[in-house]
Amino acid sequence: MSGAFDLCGVPLRGPVLNGSGTFDAIAARRTFGDRLLEEFPFDAFVSKTITIEPRQGNPPPRLWESPAGLINSIGLPNKGLSGFLSGDLPQLAELPVPLVVSVMGFSRDELGALVAAVGERDQVAMIELNVSCPNVETGLVMGADPAETAAAVGAVRPLTDKPLIVKLTPSAGDPAVAAAAEGAGADAVSLINTLRGMALDPRTRRPWLGAGTGGLSGPAVRPVALAQVASVAASVSIPVVGMGGIASGRDALDFLDAGAACVAVGTENFRDPAAGRRIARELAAVSRNERGFSAGRTRFSQDRPKSPAKVGKTVK
Ligand code: FUM
Repeated sequence: MSGAFDLCGVPLRGPVLNGSGTFDAIAARRTFGDRLLEEFPFDAFVSKTITIEPRQGNPPPRLWESPAGLINSIGLPNKGLSGFLSGDLPQLAELPVPLVVSVMGFSRDELGALVAAVGERDQVAMIELNVSCPNVETGLVMGADPAETAAAVGAVRPLTDKPLIVKLTPSAGDPAVAAAAEGAGADAVSLINTLRGMALDPRTRRPWLGAGTGGLSGPAVRPVALAQVASVAASVSIPVVGMGGIASGRDALDFLDAGAACVAVGTENFRDPAAGRRIARELAAVSRNERGFSAGRTRFSQDRPKSPAKVGKTVK
């Protein structure tokens, strides 16, 4: 896919991103070498979420495969801000696509420190605010509440000129949080993050995951994600990055038709590390063959008429 295409003013070669934490580009580069750069699966790369301090993540086990889905309780293991800036950022900057850095703060001050530090790096094209991780104690607090979300986005908005994408939880269930993010200055929203889920150990009858519960992703959540993307896209004027169980070009087209400007591939990357490219190819083919044009933001969301009541909506 080619032509004029952008997300928040950042030119992209197409509309397929990865979901944060679902593709380790540094490990993939070690395995595939420069071939990874030549055949990079995504049109922009979203980093694993970073926090101020290094984190080990949750106790194992951290994964449970369910019918058509995956429950994870990873718990945001990462090197922390300074480890990311010195260790990972130079390597991620070599990727052939714009870099989106995902950040999560346990307070507005922490979120502000992350945004300020990451935002001043030229290698970073956009920042994703993860206010929706279900695997940390306070992860859902900001993103489940419109006023908290508005306060968090409003606090960090003055700290950077870089586009801010707010990653939303499906647990909020209505578009008020997205509207709050938009009203506070977000440039885009991305959804859905995972749905809280649990599995029992078949032998002990106790929770399988070390953290007790985790986040469900994969095709099992796709209808939920599609409904929420449609609802949010109809409620905000900023671009929506749609995700949740996308595994084919036709799935991606569903999200674009529901109002997403871009899509992100997550759980499918674990099954097929080249899924992003395949899905982009399938999306281009299905758009061309069935509709006679290339799918993308300019065709679907940017030009989609908005109800005047929904444009410029502000949140108290
Ligand atoms: O590492 C994690 O548990 C990430 C979770 C999330 O942001 O959904």
